Amino acid sequence: MMSSDTLSSQDLMQMEDRYGAHNYHPLPVVLSRGEGVYVWDVEGKKYYDFLSAYSAVNQGHCHPRIIQALKDQAEKLTLTSRAFYNDLLGRYEKYITEYFGYDKVLPMNTGVEAVETALKLCRKWAYEVKGTPNNEAKIIFASGNFHGRTMSVISASVDPLSTRGFGPYMPGLEVIPYNDLDALKTALEDPNVAGFIVEPIQGEAGVVVPDEQYLPEAYHLCKAYNVLFIADEVQTGIARTGKLLATCGNCKCSGNCERKPEIKPDILVLGKALSGGVFPVSAVLADDEVMLSIKPGEHGSTFGGNPLACAVAMEALEVVRDERLSENANRLGEIFRARMQQLVDKSELVTLVRGKGLLNAIVINDTEDSDTAWNMCVAMRDNGLLAKPTHGNIIRFAPPLVMTEEQLHECCDIIEKTILNFEA
Ligand SMILES: Cc1ncc(COP(=O)(O)O)c(C=O)c1O
Repeated sequence: MMSSDTLSSQDLMQMEDRYGAHNYHPLPVVLSRGEGVYVWDVEGKKYYDFLSAYSAVNQGHCHPRIIQALKDQAEKLTLTSRAFYNDLLGRYEKYITEYFGYDKVLPMNTGVEAVETALKLCRKWAYEVKGTPNNEAKIIFASGNFHGRTMSVISASVDPLSTRGFGPYMPGLEVIPYNDLDALKTALEDPNVAGFIVEPIQGEAGVVVPDEQYLPEAYHLCKAYNVLFIADEVQTGIARTGKLLATCGNCKCSGNCERKPEIKPDILVLGKALSGGVFPVSAVLADDEVMLSIKPGEHGSTFGGNPLACAVAMEALEVVRDERLSENANRLGEIFRARMQQLVDKSELVTLVRGKGLLNAIVINDTEDSDTAWNMCVAMRDNGLLAKPTHGNIIRFAPPLVMTEEQLHECCDIIEKTILNFEA
């Protein structure tokens, strides 16, 4: 194989273009190394990473403790499949269920697989426990959702880029407006509704934060109608929004979880930062009444629960706790939004900043199909900071949570300087 050392960024981008499917439109930068909040391109230029692989690298790039756990386990045992037991899965299951306060976990790999699992679990629970007539179960989704790319979840997407040309779509799904409790209540009147799946903050939609009371009230409505409340915390979970989970709401924990969440979803879906971005590890958590609806042989994955994943995920979660990443995200998030608000106040081009913890976005004063936000991201790249637009005119900012206050201020200076340059 050719060594990438001898190839320039230009060569490598051309290679991807020539040999890879064209299903992404990356910012033109080719990265070859990462450490903490920094990444380097193949020419050696250093950048602040303000995307964190869509919130997967919360613990920072190549966290030494997580990498050590990976190396140690890789030398012992990597995969058994679930045909046999392995000596880490039970330990991991005990660890993660105690960490998040659930009876059981079902381990998977990617975020969307965990979402699929949650949907299957919800349907199974409806038929086995709730008594819904066979094949009649319905699951409610919120408009603007992003749960991944499989056929079933795109069937509930309202984004034409996700759906166009991929029909026919899966039945049994209903989409209602996000942040609309009346619409939820109306939908819940249908006795065949089994579950409501929701992102506590819609990340891909542009970091859309619902009203303060939306999640707790939606949860209580679901309880009243005997419907499962499913939280997709693949992007918002694991300290990103300044709490262990975004569904923790305004609990009073001082950074480490004291198990007083505002709401406890019936099914919790996690991915991304569960491995600190080291490789795909996802999980579905639920209590026995729900989880035991799925019986042996009815669902699974060759790699789900592999020993390497178990070792990595335990260390990744331990790092979140030891380094008090929720607390740091919460504190730095306040500073970030205050700095961006100053920019909004003096800039014609930025109209709004929103977010929670270190999951934030600014809205650029231009149309969704304009290239202003893209050009700003290219200019920020030139100034040493990597971010990416979402939905055309929104720029998401989600740095690793191991950032220091000093680094954050330096990043805010870069963002401000770059954007103000566009005013001229
Ligand atoms: C809320 C949410 N759910 C699910 C997914 C899908 O995760 P994955 O890309 O690992 O399949 C994503 C990915 O961005 C996400 O943001």
